[in-house]
Amino acid sequence: MQDAEQRRYSLGAMIFHWVIAVLVIVNWRIAESAEHMEGAAKGAAFGNHKSIGMLILVLTIGRIAWRLTHPRPPMPESHAKWERVLARTIHIVFYVLLIGLPLGGWLASSLVSRPVDFFGLFTIPMLPVGENKDLGGTIFDAHKTAGSIFIYLIGLHILGALKHTFIDKDLGIFRMLPFGGRSRE
Ligand code: HEM
Ligand code: HEM
Repeated sequence: MQDAEQRRYSLGAMIFHWVIAVLVIVNWRIAESAEHMEGAAKGAAFGNHKSIGMLILVLTIGRIAWRLTHPRPPMPESHAKWERVLARTIHIVFYVLLIGLPLGGWLASSLVSRPVDFFGLFTIPMLPVGENKDLGGTIFDAHKTAGSIFIYLIGLHILGALKHTFIDKDLGIFRMLPFGGRSRE
């Protein structure tokens, strides 16, 4: 028997998780709607998309540093082996995408010689890779595909959290929330 507090993530991990989750979903919606815009509106929407993406990159570096220095609660014993393996695999792929998507966007923007203007506050320097529009275009195509894969995996991740909460009735989603759930199991 363990207290709920020992089975929850640390408060810092929760804050990183939810801030980044909201930003990822917002950024995906901005990119999708920007694709259907024209002219200045499209430029402004992609400007926001790039800035939010770079913010996600910085937050993810902080999150990984936090993750490496703060213990994670053990997975509930009620989870089947395949569920643990699937959940962990998705988490690892998430970290790869949270770094890879913004880095790829930054790299592709540099290759097409378009520096990122961070919310109009300052310009993020281009990566020193020179100009190569073909390669930039290919990386943007990969960026879009990886973005779509991300969304499907987020769907699976949410289904997993809901299953553990409402079907298995273990702490589930409350592992990532500072309140709620059964106090002991
Ligand atoms: C975690 C952060 C990011 C996510 C989840 C993300 C996601 C996406 C998605 C899903 C699309 C495709 C939209 C569509 O096909 O309708 C897209 C397009 C795009 N993203 Fe990102 N992105 C991120 C970060 C960045 C960054 C940091 C940059 C640039 C510095 C960037 C630049 C672009 C550009 C320019 C496009 C349009 C590509 C084209 O139409 O060829 N993204 N992004
Ligand atoms: C939208 C983007 C999201 C991303 C990028 C994301 C990413 C992650 C990552 C990387 C972890 C693993 C933490 C670690 O151990 O290092 C995690 C855990 C978790 N996430 Fe998400 N998440 C997202 C959305 C959500 C949503 C919407 C929910 C709720 C429905 C949720 C519920 C959880 C829960 C409950 C855990 C803890 C898993 C466990 O039991 O160990 N996440 N998330």
